[in-house]
Amino acid sequence: MILDNDLEKILISKEQIQKRVAELGQMITIEYAKDPDPIVLVCILKGSVVFFSDLMRQIDHDCRLDFMIVKSYGAGTDTSGNVRFVKDLDGSITGKHVIIVEDIIDSGNTLTFLRGNLITRGAKTLRICTLLDKPDRRSPRSNITVDYCGFTIPNEFVVGYGLDFDEKYRNMPDIGILKPEVYRK
Ligand code: IMP
Ligand code: MG
Repeated sequence: MILDNDLEKILISKEQIQKRVAELGQMITIEYAKDPDPIVLVCILKGSVVFFSDLMRQIDHDCRLDFMIVKSYGAGTDTSGNVRFVKDLDGSITGKHVIIVEDIIDSGNTLTFLRGNLITRGAKTLRICTLLDKPDRRSPRSNITVDYCGFTIPNEFVVGYGLDFDEKYRNMPDIGILKPEVYRK
């Protein structure tokens, strides 16, 4: 792909991603099998959109979809610590099974804010599923437990499979590490 030229290296290939997403879908399918109530899958736009659309097709259960937009990043690669609501859920989650689907947990600020907010709405269960986790970057202020995690990755800025740098690279099928000169420009 033409965008690959900006990568230092591919960190996780599309084949590795596919295999892991199928495993996550299976884990979720098994854990909710005893309860036929629907699961509301909450996509945190935009970064999660690719993971979300792949994951939902690997879950053999009655799933409903909802979407949220929160902003925690500007155009740089560092977290601002400020999380802002841009779009709320369309439906009520009271009494429902909810899984928040995230692309990546970095400082954890976004999810700490989101989980705190959703918890007040009285979901039956509230779990977190993230494709990527960078535990070394976790802020001491965040206290989140990840229920389902695709890959734990080192402290590098990654793009592709939904993840962007300045809105670019979301459509790359693999996940790669950006060349430093690209984000220093
Ligand atoms: P947190 O609030 O610091 O945990 O950041 C979460 C959000 O920051 C993610 O949903 C991403 O949108 C963005 N983010 C964090 N790390 C990266 C990265 O390495 N590449 C692209 N986006 C990232
Ligand atoms: Mg995101």
